[in-house]
Amino acid sequence: MPSTDAPDLRLPYDANILFDAPLRTERLVLRPLAESDRWDVWEYQRLPEVLRYIPWPERTREEGFAHTAKRAGLHRLERDEDALFLAMGLVGEPTTSPDAPDRAHGGDRVVGDIMLRVTSVQHAQLEIGWVVHPGFQGRGLAVEAARAVLGLAFRDLRPHRVHAQLDARNEASARLCERLGMRREATLLEEEYHDGEWEDTAVYGILRREWSAAR
Ligand SMILES: CC(C)(COP(=O)(O)OP(=O)(O)OC[C@H]1O[C@@H](n2cnc3c(N)ncnc32)[C@H](O)[C@@H]1OP(=O)(O)O)[C@@H](O)C(=O)NCCC(=O)NCCS
Repeated sequence: MPSTDAPDLRLPYDANILFDAPLRTERLVLRPLAESDRWDVWEYQRLPEVLRYIPWPERTREEGFAHTAKRAGLHRLERDEDALFLAMGLVGEPTTSPDAPDRAHGGDRVVGDIMLRVTSVQHAQLEIGWVVHPGFQGRGLAVEAARAVLGLAFRDLRPHRVHAQLDARNEASARLCERLGMRREATLLEEEYHDGEWEDTAVYGILRREWSAAR
């Protein structure tokens, strides 16, 4: 039965609050990505296995640093297409940054990040996305981080639905969606053309009432 609740996305949302009061899970501290995370991010951003299913171009280190600086400046969700990125700091794992620790990263290594994006204010729809450094994959860190971010989103932003879009061949990402309780809603055939081939997109989603019912 479709819900009759009217869309009620609580915006604007200012993620700066998470610098002082980050999300903490068993192994991670989640707070907005900062420019000072550029070294740690570069360690995964540059790897071909990470780029395989993400529509990122190959970047030089300087371009990678600029990309992180741009994403680090995004803290506010208010309109369609607004996005923010939460750094996954692995507690006890030292950062690769040669710079002195600052207020943001504090010394923990950023081993991945989680994106939250507004796809429709009108219909209260958000998108979630993720990346984890291959050296830290397969340990349940993405499940741990994404679950915490979904919890924050459903509690504080109140989306009606959160969805994820992935290359249909991305088994790790699909499995992660399933672990989070997301349903495979669609497979969009030949939706994008990259590197000489048409690629299918898988869409996963979870409704607010499904998230609540599972808790
Ligand atoms: C998708 C990604 C974030 C998962 O990160 P992770 O920290 O390894 O995930 P977790 O350890 O929390 O595991 C989540 C689930 O995926 C499964 N999984 C992880 N890697 C897998 C793989 N290569 N193939 C199949 N399943 C895999 C895990 O077994 C787990 O399921 P289970 O608990 O039922 O066993 C990571 O693979 C990644 O960053 N990939 C490259 C970037 C990318 O493609 N991002 C997604 C764009 S949509």
